Amino acid sequence: MDNEEFAGLLTPAGTEVLAAAEAADVSEGALLATASRLRERYPAGLVAAALTQVRLRERGRAKFGADAARMYFTPDGLEQSTRAPVAAHRARRFAGHAPSRVLELGCGIGADLLYRALAGVSGTGVERDPLTASVARANLAAFGVAGTAEVVTGDATAADPSGHGAVFADPGRRTARGRVFDPRSYEPPLDTVLELAGRVPAACVKVAPGIPHDAVPDGAEAEWISVSGEVKEAALWLGGLAGTVARRATLLDGAGGVATLTPEPGLGEPSVREFGRYLYEPDGAVIRAGLVAEVASAVAGGLADPRIAYVTSDALVPTPFAAAYEVLDVLPFSLKRLRAELRRRDVGALTIKKRGSAVDVDRLRRDLGFARRAPRGAEAMTVVLTRVGAAPFAVLVRPR
Ligand SMILES: C[S@@+](CC[C@H](N)C(=O)[O-])C[C@H]1O[C@@H](n2cnc3c(N)ncnc32)[C@H](O)[C@@H]1O
Repeated sequence: MDNEEFAGLLTPAGTEVLAAAEAADVSEGALLATASRLRERYPAGLVAAALTQVRLRERGRAKFGADAARMYFTPDGLEQSTRAPVAAHRARRFAGHAPSRVLELGCGIGADLLYRALAGVSGTGVERDPLTASVARANLAAFGVAGTAEVVTGDATAADPSGHGAVFADPGRRTARGRVFDPRSYEPPLDTVLELAGRVPAACVKVAPGIPHDAVPDGAEAEWISVSGEVKEAALWLGGLAGTVARRATLLDGAGGVATLTPEPGLGEPSVREFGRYLYEPDGAVIRAGLVAEVASAVAGGLADPRIAYVTSDALVPTPFAAAYEVLDVLPFSLKRLRAELRRRDVGALTIKKRGSAVDVDRLRRDLGFARRAPRGAEAMTVVLTRVGAAPFAVLVRPR
C-alpha cells in the first residue's frame, strides 16, 4: 500500500470499499475469493488497500480492542505502536501536567498522539515516512480530534521544540536487521531526543524495558509498565513530568485498573528466609523497577535466595503486585522424585515456572511425561523451579 492508495481509501468510494471489505470474509482461506468478488465492483488498487486495512484492524484488536475497528494501520506502524491501555495511561499523565502543547518526535501511526488528543492534550506529531504520517492523520480524523493534534511529515531531528510545553518520543528500536540495543541506533537517536527534550520544560521518552538503572538520567523518573502481568515498556519522565520518585512500577489490567508501586524510603534489602506457606511471584514491572523489597515488606515475607525474585511468607496478603501461590511441598530438584511426586498427587495438568534455574522446561515437561500423551491425572499443579544458593529446588504450588 502506497500513500496514494491509502489516500484513495479515505475518499467516499474508498470508504464504501472498506465497508464492503469489513463485511466480507477475509480469513486466509476465503481471501482470494473475497478479493475477486470485490474487484468486480471496485478498482483493484482500492480493494487491495481495503483488504489490507481490514486484516490489520483484526490484528490491531490485540492492542487497541474495539478502537481498532476505526483505526488505520501500516504493518510496521501497528507493530511499533503503543497499545491502547499504555497510551491512555501515558496520556492521563500528560493531561495531569499543565496544559501545554506536546511535540512528538517520530509519531508513527499516531497511537500515542491519538490517545493524548482524546485526553485533551494538544500537539504535533512529526513523522518522516509520508505514508505513516498520512495514517496518523487519518487516525486523528477518525476519532474527531484532528483539531486537537496535527501531524507534520518531516525529520524530527530538525524539529524546533520551542513553543511546546513538552516533548514525547517513542524512538524506533527495530531496523531491517532486527532489534537495536544501542540507544545511539534508536530512530530518532536517543541523544538527539534528549537534547531536544532538554529545551522544553518537560518530556517523556519511551525506552527498552531492559534499561539499566544507572542509565536513567539524574532527576528523571523511570516507569516500567506491565499490562495483564506482561512487561510492555519503560518510559523516562523528565523535568516537570517526572514524579517525586526515581522509579515506579505501573500495572495496568487492560480494563482501566491501575496499580502503582514506588520505592519505600529506608526499606533496605529484603530479609532471606526459608520457604514459608506462600510463594509470591512479583510482576515483571516490579522486578524491573527494583521494587521486590517493597513487595516482600507488604506481604511480611523475604527471599529464599537473595538474588532470585521469589518472595516467600507465612502470610497470605492480597497484593496486585505479585501472584500468590500456596506452597504444597519443597523438593530438592530430582527428575525421579518430581515424577513420583506428581504421580502420587494424581497431577494431570502441569504448569512449570522457573527463575534462577537452568532446567530446560520443554525437555522437563517431556521427561515428566506431560508432552506426548493426554495426561491421566485429575489434579492441576504448578511447579516452580528455582535454587537457594547452588542447590536447585522444585516447589510444588497452587495459585491462590
Ligand atoms: C516506534 S514508532 C512510534 C510509534 C508511536 N508512538 C505509536 O504509538 O504509534 C517510531 C516512529 O519514528 C519514526 N522516525 C524515526 N526517525 C525519525 C526521524 N528522524 N524523524 C521523524 N520520524 C522518525 C519512524 O518512522 C517510526 O514511525
